[in-house]
Parts: sequence; C-alpha cells; structure tokens
Amino acid sequence: MTASLFEWNDSFLIGIEELDHEHEVLIDNINQLHEELIGNENKSELRKCLGEIYVRMQAHFALEEHVMKENDYEFFDEHKREHEEFLESYTECMVQFLNGADILSRNPIDECLKQWVMEHITTSDRKMALMMQNKVA
Ligand SMILES: [Fe+2]
Ligand SMILES: [Fe+2]
Repeated sequence: MTASLFEWNDSFLIGIEELDHEHEVLIDNINQLHEELIGNENKSELRKCLGEIYVRMQAHFALEEHVMKENDYEFFDEHKREHEEFLESYTECMVQFLNGADILSRNPIDECLKQWVMEHITTSDRKMALMMQNKVA
C-alpha cells in the first residue's frame, strides 16, 4: 500500500492551461518518485530519485520563467527568487537526508515539497496567472 504525497485537486489550478498541465504532470512525477523512495534504503537509488525530482522542478521553473518573461510579468525577479530559494532549501534537505543517520526519515523533504506545492502554486503562481491574464484582457 503506497500513499501519494499529493492529491491533485482543482484548488491547484491557476487558469493558464499550459502551466496547469505542467503542474499536474509535475505533481504526478513527484508522487511516482516519492513512492519509489518508500522503504528504500539504497543510497544511490535514493540519490537518483531525489535528483530527478530536482531536475523536474528546475525544468518546470525554467518554463514558467520563460512564460513570465514573454508576458513582461512585473514581479518576475521576486518570483524567480522564490524558485531559487525553493531549489536551495530542497538541496539542503536532500543533502541532510542522504548524510543522515536515519535514512528512512524523509519528513523534511516531504515538508519542503508539500510547502512548495501548497504555498507556491496557490499563491505566487496564481498571482502571476491573474496578473498576466488581466494584462491581456
Ligand atoms: Fe509553477
Ligand atoms: Fe512559480
């Protein structure tokens, strides 16, 4: 029996189809990778999985930053900084976890990912979508 880290639901929708689709795929990927981690004590496999989550997050941020640039989003710098801060704190959690005595305790990583999804998508990404749509309208 495996448990998903996230359940995708409509509260994550921000109203830009391309990015909503990306978020859904991203969350799906994170859930799959997360499930592979459960009960796994093999460090090199764990490192690979966690690294893959990092790469997918990074790719998503790059796409989002591209969309913001194209739309001359006025809070681009602030938003990009949030992405960078996320990647930094995720990296920190990942290193601590992989160096930790208790390799099965993934809580800080789970919290870090959850916080990003809950907070970043539903506040910063949504704000960006609203502002860019209002500008176009
Ligand atoms: Fe996003
Ligand atoms: Fe974002």
